[in-house]
Amino acid sequence: MSRLLIKGGNPLRGEVRIKAAKNAVLPILAASLLTQDECVIKDVPHITDITYMLKIMGALGSSYTVDGDILAIKSEAPTHYSVPAEYAKELRSSLFLLGPLLGRVRRAVVAYPGGCDIGVRPLDIHLKGLREMGVAIEESHGKIYCDGTRLKGADVLLDFPSVGATENLMMAAASARGVTRISNAAKEPEIVDLQNFINAMGGKITGAGSDRIVIEGVEKLHGCEYTPIPDRIVAGTILIGGAVCGGDVTISNVIPDHLEPLLFKINKSACHLSLRSDNISITAEGRPRTFDKLETQPYPGFPTDLQSQIMVLMSVAEGTGVIVENIFETRFRIVRELIKMGATITVKDRTAVIRGVKRLEGAAVSAADLRGGAALVIAGAKAEGFTTIDNARYIDRGYESIERIFGELGVEINRLE
Ligand code: UD1
Repeated sequence: MSRLLIKGGNPLRGEVRIKAAKNAVLPILAASLLTQDECVIKDVPHITDITYMLKIMGALGSSYTVDGDILAIKSEAPTHYSVPAEYAKELRSSLFLLGPLLGRVRRAVVAYPGGCDIGVRPLDIHLKGLREMGVAIEESHGKIYCDGTRLKGADVLLDFPSVGATENLMMAAASARGVTRISNAAKEPEIVDLQNFINAMGGKITGAGSDRIVIEGVEKLHGCEYTPIPDRIVAGTILIGGAVCGGDVTISNVIPDHLEPLLFKINKSACHLSLRSDNISITAEGRPRTFDKLETQPYPGFPTDLQSQIMVLMSVAEGTGVIVENIFETRFRIVRELIKMGATITVKDRTAVIRGVKRLEGAAVSAADLRGGAALVIAGAKAEGFTTIDNARYIDRGYESIERIFGELGVEINRLE
């Protein structure tokens, strides 16, 4: 049991440097399976989702070393093509291994993956795309068996721009025979990063960042050194923290364009933002203003991964606002916890109505998923008195020591093991 204890009330002041994005590093690690050479990934955060991914890849026969923030991984000759069920349950991203395993050894077995329980998260789009690329797939006893002996390029139209499915198909296609065209592809910056990584390995991918990606399969990929993009969600979490608690915060090593949907919103919320090429400062005083309506959407819309954090902002803002969650159907489980802290929120289906209150009070709350957990840290930092957050292990999946990040910004926060 891992618990955080926070004494709220301090403004946030200081500077935080952002490391590589979890959601970029995970598919990049998976893609490193496509070559027998070593890949060196830089600026890697120490978070448990990455530790899990490395464990899984170790079980497949990859070897790796971690030296500070530099990760060297080599998959000389994968010894297994079956992702162990006990790991897959912990990490939805284990699904990413389907694509590269098929590309490299033409076979893959994956147990139905886990991850944060934030909705049904089916796999139909992944599997449909792979089938169109000639992969024979059988599902039985909670496992997915894929035979990629006939893997080949194909034209694939996604029913929804799924991030994971787009990445999986890019990886399978990178070393398949022929050309693959993915239409209605996801446009997230992490997809562009995966394209850049695979191209650095000698791949031939164009179009990432648009809704049409073209992948020309190549016979052989080679090792490379790569620094993934900074984590826009960690950056956004800290900016929202600044807007909620007040103060003066700078985040460095960010790509402001990637945060545009958030910046557009908080700019309207009584904060002052200043943007430079790779850093953003926020100065906030007094009570933020709410937003009439905010809907989560695929990129470049407002990210679902910042929805819980922005809900905390709206909980203490002036006015009444509405959030519509369009991506994951159960991403409102933080609401019950925020209500314990004095928030006024009602939920019906995918819509939450938030009437801003003047203050939150510290309470004993519990994280139910990664981003909701981080949002509770912001709420605790704002609230009067003490807040304890149970199940902080969820937060560790995607934030490298959240207590250090917020502690260095002036929040009184400690971990109780
Ligand atoms: C990725 C991110 C996650 C983020 C999400 C949406 C990683 C490791 N995780 O998750 O942090 O919240 O994008 O931006 O990058 N869906 C289907 N069928 C499928 C696949 C998805 O119906 O085969 C649905 C899901 O249930 C969900 C929606 O599509 O409702 C979005 O899922 P997707 O874009 O695939 O998200 P992930 O790749 O799982």
